[in-house]
Amino acid sequence: MTTDEQVDVSIPLDRPTAARAYDWLLGGKQNYEVDRQFILEGLKKFPQVLDSARQNRQFLYRAVRYLVEEAGIEQFIDMGCGLPTNSNVHQVAQRFNPNARVVYVDIDPIVLAHGQALLAENESTTVITADFRDPNAVLEHPDTKRLIDFSKPVATLFLSVAHFLRDQDEVGKGAKHALRHIVDEAAPSGSYFVLSHMVVADPEKKEWIKQFAAKAGMPVQIRTTDEVDALMAGLEPVEPGLVNINDWRPDPAQPDLNPVPPELHPFVGASEKNKELFEYGGVLRKP
Ligand SMILES: C[S@@+](CC[C@H](N)C(=O)[O-])C[C@H]1O[C@@H](n2cnc3c(N)ncnc32)[C@H](O)[C@@H]1O
Repeated sequence: MTTDEQVDVSIPLDRPTAARAYDWLLGGKQNYEVDRQFILEGLKKFPQVLDSARQNRQFLYRAVRYLVEEAGIEQFIDMGCGLPTNSNVHQVAQRFNPNARVVYVDIDPIVLAHGQALLAENESTTVITADFRDPNAVLEHPDTKRLIDFSKPVATLFLSVAHFLRDQDEVGKGAKHALRHIVDEAAPSGSYFVLSHMVVADPEKKEWIKQFAAKAGMPVQIRTTDEVDALMAGLEPVEPGLVNINDWRPDPAQPDLNPVPPELHPFVGASEKNKELFEYGGVLRKP
């Protein structure tokens, strides 16, 4: 890994961050009281968020393994990669193809700080601090240019992050541009796109989540499955299509995640009883 970025890793403790809150759901240790309180508050209304976060991370493993083993992909851009946990994209990809290369992208500099330690010895993987609402900043980054060869197929991953993209935003050109610019404009035919997106059908519940996240300084746009389908128009979903990601090629033998933190045990299994919120997505191919 190389990077010469000077990053100010000032850690906001007066508000939660998405990277740290999600880290707690996955059983990580890089989170603070403010993040945990945010999660506990949200789980009162939507207890299935715990399962869906963990199901999302397990989908990541299956999707990356599919891309390397079955689709022959060896380069990845992981947008909004989050804090390192077990089975990170480069570890899954390089397990099945040691030549796989990965550019991790996240807006939160804490991710770079922790990623640097993880990747110190890994020349084919890098972490960059960038805003995925500006895909050109990712494309123009020297580490992207060094690791990704756009004359060959590339997989762009937006896992549990597309709900941070609003159709209209003060930064960038909106959700569709952020999601599609690289796959549509920079990547060749035969490239792949991996998506998971928090979906809710009920407009009042969508609005509740929007307000709840906005109060914590996290603007989001929760969509319906139809709205997500529209964002993916023109790409070809591989079997079984865009689905609840828990149903995307399930594999009971895949590696486990870190254990659920004890305070979250009461919420385990909530997604089986209530499916009003889930992560919807799949793997799509650029024709
Ligand atoms: C829920 S985590 C998802 C982590 C990982 N993709 C996964 O599926 O396991 C969301 C991540 O997106 C990052 N993020 C949110 N908005 C972003 C933006 N505009 N640009 C880059 N990263 C962003 C957050 O910092 C956080 O680390």
